[in-house]
Amino acid sequence: MHHSFARWDRPTEQDLEDYARLMAVSFGTKVDSSARWLGRVGPARARVILADDQVGAALASYDMGQFFGGRSVACWGIAGVAVQPHLRRCGLASAMMRRVLEDAHAQGVPLSSLFAANHPLYRSVGYETAGTRALASIAPDRIRVREPSGSVRPMDEQDEAVRRALYQRMAAARPGHLNREAGLWRRATHSRDDVPLRSWLALSPAGEPEGYITLQPGPGAGISQELEVVDLVATSPWAVRRLLGFLGDHASVVRSVRFPSAPSCPFLRSLAEPRVCWEDSTGWLLRVVSLVPALEDRGWPAAVAGRVELELHDPLLPGNSGRWTLEVEGGQARVTRGGAGDVRMDPRGLACTYSGFVSPAEAAAVGLLEGPDYALATLGALLAGPAPWTLDMF
Ligand SMILES: CC(C)(COP(=O)(O)OP(=O)(O)OC[C@H]1O[C@@H](n2cnc3c(N)ncnc32)[C@H](O)[C@@H]1OP(=O)(O)O)[C@@H](O)C(=O)NCCC(=O)NCCS
Repeated sequence: MHHSFARWDRPTEQDLEDYARLMAVSFGTKVDSSARWLGRVGPARARVILADDQVGAALASYDMGQFFGGRSVACWGIAGVAVQPHLRRCGLASAMMRRVLEDAHAQGVPLSSLFAANHPLYRSVGYETAGTRALASIAPDRIRVREPSGSVRPMDEQDEAVRRALYQRMAAARPGHLNREAGLWRRATHSRDDVPLRSWLALSPAGEPEGYITLQPGPGAGISQELEVVDLVATSPWAVRRLLGFLGDHASVVRSVRFPSAPSCPFLRSLAEPRVCWEDSTGWLLRVVSLVPALEDRGWPAAVAGRVELELHDPLLPGNSGRWTLEVEGGQARVTRGGAGDVRMDPRGLACTYSGFVSPAEAAAVGLLEGPDYALATLGALLAGPAPWTLDMF
């Protein structure tokens, strides 16, 4: 079927209203909550494709960062991708993704990430699964962690700077965690209906803030409540124990607590019985949009030095294509044109290895990249790190 694509641009006021309606019909949400979501991301971050003079397809992007190697790398987090039901399977979503990636590349944005309801669509433009996001569920009476020292108190607006500093400190040490922009912070501190969530600050025996927890009520009431943890942030072993103990203290009325985590999350090591149930486990996808800043802006292990000669084949963003030499030393990377192109890859192979989710040798085993063993091993040593995951779903 042929449709005339009149415009790919920032939406008008009318287009934004149409986008909220499109989101409601696509995701089964209410129009007003979709409009509120758009307000959080920021109307300036929305893009539409007009088909036959109407909003045929739309998306929005968070202007955020993602931590890799201890540094925040600028990243467009794509969300709210939707196509009018009667226009699906005409290539509109693919066209929209190509356009947003071209725009990001033109602005030198290093990365883009997203949660996919449809992998073939995003893989076709170079995204690949590069980390996880899951909820761990446990009955509070099984937490069995007791840390009576120090104190926990409710947080208020005065604590906002402390909250952000604590999150930033923990997130920077965890590959894949988001460097939240304003809209994502709003999501982490307010309910879907925009009501402030309740948070508690953990103060060490010396009175220092070392962590916080943000909760929202789940289903159930009375003695069979479920509790959702939005943020569980701890920057010291004491704070991990104190906040887990705080959760355990809900045992009389709370049947289960769900918190964002991952099997590799160090907090689970503090549970006496870490047999949690995993729920809503999913992967997020990454796309390297601008190769040089993606490699140079991230952190690298300070104790490892190495040189890898790469060849990237990126037909959608040809500025990334060609041979590159990556030299890493002292925790910094330098990327220059040229070299022998020993490790050959496409954007998907680059994405899943860049985050450390898949080792280059593992990616080679399934044909996502190729190269001689010594070069794969060098690249693997440079990219090795804790398994990437994130607290946020966006
Ligand atoms: C998912 C969605 C955005 C796809 O939009 P679209 O314009 O139909 O997608 P395209 O026509 O560009 O399709 C691109 C590729 O995606 C895959 N795809 C799209 N719809 C699919 C479907 N219903 N079933 C299986 N694969 C599908 C195919 O690989 C397709 O390529 P092909 O047509 O050559 O086989 C659209 O169905 C939609 O709005 N769904 C509801 C909201 C949603 O799921 N958003 C995505 C959130 S991440």
